[in-house]
This record gives sequence, C-alpha cells and structure tokens, in this order.
Amino acid sequence: MKKLIVGNFKMNTTVQEFSLYLDKFLPLIKNSKNMVALSLPYTHLMLASQKLVSTNVIMGCQNISTEEKGAYTGEVSNLMVKDLGAKFTLVGHSEIRKKFHETNEQINQKIIRALSVNLKSILCIGETKTEKNNNKTKQVLKKQIEIALKGLYENELKNIIIAYEPIWAIGTGKMPSVKEIEDNIAYLRKIILDIFSQKASEKIQILYGGSVNSNNFASILKSSQVDGLLVGGSCLDPFEFAKIVN
Ligand code: 13P
Repeated sequence: MKKLIVGNFKMNTTVQEFSLYLDKFLPLIKNSKNMVALSLPYTHLMLASQKLVSTNVIMGCQNISTEEKGAYTGEVSNLMVKDLGAKFTLVGHSEIRKKFHETNEQINQKIIRALSVNLKSILCIGETKTEKNNNKTKQVLKKQIEIALKGLYENELKNIIIAYEPIWAIGTGKMPSVKEIEDNIAYLRKIILDIFSQKASEKIQILYGGSVNSNNFASILKSSQVDGLLVGGSCLDPFEFAKIVN
C-alpha cells in the first residue's frame, strides 16, 4: 500500500519563498511512489491551490477554529479553508496544545467541524518526556484519542488520520526506536478496536512524526504498522523532503 508523507510547514516561509520552494519540489516528486501532502500556513493556501492543480500533492492547513463563523477575531474556520481547496487540517498539534492550551474537548469540536464540511483531520497525539518516563504513555494516548473521537460514527473514520508524535521527539533530533513506534501504534489500533471495531482498527491510517529526516525515514516506513510520516523541519528543504517522499 502507498504510504502518506505529510510535510508540516509550521510558521515558516513567506508566500514568495514558498512559491520558489514549489518550483524546486514539484518536478522532483512527479513520479513519487508515495502520496504526498503539505500542511500549510493559511496565507499560502491560495497560491498552493493554483500551483498544485494537476499535481499529485494534497493541500491542507494546520488548524481550524472550533467555531464556524462570527465574532472570533484571529480565527479561521472550516468553511474558509475548504473554500480555498484544503482537503485536510491538522488537529491537536502539540505546539497548539501547549502554547495555546488547547484541550482534548476543543480538539473534538474541531474534528466535528472538519467532518461537517468533508475536510479530513490529521489528529496529532503524543506523550511528553515526563509522561514517558513515568510510564504514562498509554494512558495519555488513550485519553487523547477517546476524547478527540467522541461522538464519531465508524463510517466517519475514513476522514480521520492519526499522527503519533511523541512530544519529546519533535524538533529534538531524538526518536523512539522502530520497535517502540510499532508498539505504540499497535496500542493505538487497540484503542480504535475497543471504541469501534476490528475492521476500523485495521483500516485507520496512522502516521509517525518527530525528527524524521532523509537518514532515518526508511527504517520507520518499512514497518507495516506505519502508514506514513508527518515531517516538520526536514520538509522545508525541497531536496531533503523529496528524498523522503520518493
Ligand atoms: P520535526 O520533524 O521538526 O521534529 O517536527 C515534527 C512535527 O511536529 C510535525 O508535525
């Protein structure tokens, strides 16, 4: 099965820099064997929707509001990103959970908003170093998933992708072993099995994210438990990211 490689730009590049990035990146990945997606700043969506027409790259954003419209200064809604052609949004990225105190309940609301306009959600979950050291990883992951997916019907899971991103591995150059990644992803599938069904647990796409680069990606992707990658820093260099995507 094809793997899904998602690049998360975070708050990087101007629109002009991003345009030059695409000029370099798109020819390199024209024949890639994997699926590729870019999770972009809102400001880049208009340009991306034009430049990515008839390419193999899927366009998405990094967050949406819990609300649909109204007096929410600074927020961007499900309808607004959908209107620009976004196919997915990240939800629950640890940087938003931490810096903006986003709760699991708000993440659930965002997922429901995304579903209402047929936007896929890439639900990011993961434990801190302290939680890992205190053997709390499983407990944390379970709570994050149970609340985020509360009230969803099984047939809506086709619009949900899970990204397992241990917080201590994001931007640090540190990473769990492939065995640890596999064990934790197997556990995530078990949670999906308990809430939904065996079929749902087998079908749901689960990505790994955290310090992925062109030297370490291959061993992670080899695992049948891992359906793809969520790449931060290494996606900002078109040549480095193309090595991972191809
Ligand atoms: P890094 O690849 O820079 O560690 O970031 C991972 C991430 O947060 C992707 O969403």
